[in-house]
Amino acid sequence: MSLRILYELYDRNFMKKGLKIGAVVLFAAFFTAQFVRPDRSNPAIVQAETLESSMQIPENIETILTRSCNDCHTNSTVYPWYSNITPFNWFLAEHINSGRRNLNFSVWNTYETRRKRRKLDQICEQVTDKEMPLPSYLWLHRASKLSDRDIEILCDWTDAEKTKLEQTQ
Ligand code: HEC
Repeated sequence: MSLRILYELYDRNFMKKGLKIGAVVLFAAFFTAQFVRPDRSNPAIVQAETLESSMQIPENIETILTRSCNDCHTNSTVYPWYSNITPFNWFLAEHINSGRRNLNFSVWNTYETRRKRRKLDQICEQVTDKEMPLPSYLWLHRASKLSDRDIEILCDWTDAEKTKLEQTQ
């Protein structure tokens, strides 16, 4: 055997070993990471602060919000099975925190009138532009996809609520 072949054999084995070690390291990292989890407790809900306490919500609107928005825009998030797996739970926690920060129906009644009006506008805008529900959410929550009819219903509702807000001014 020439030195060159020997060297190549050595090299190939080394690669295999390297891959094996890499796989073990990756697995160990994944395993260890499972112990590092974000907080999944939902913040408490104060009834007087909720959207429901500020207005009468039609049943069809309630259905759409519950099905497609409330996991990220209320304090009553229902956590899916993959929220048990790091790193998915961190992406999820980030979406939920940022979703709640931007619009939280559980504290809707604490918003000033101007903010409520802006949020009603944005709700219609975001669903019309198919920005919401977040596309990544729809991968695993197919039933949450809004139909054209749902979007129409939501926008009619936000328009009606905006008019009411202006009348109470
Ligand atoms: C998977 C989580 C998730 C779901 C489900 C979801 N949203 Fe959001 N939403 C977010 C996040 C994150 C943000 C803030 C970042 C952004 O604007 O993309 C946001 C922002 C918003 C905003 C504020 C936009 C702005 O310009 O400030 C509105 C309004 C909104 N969402 C409406 C909805 C409505 C209505 C639904 C249901 C039809 C919905 N969202 C479903 C995560 C979600």
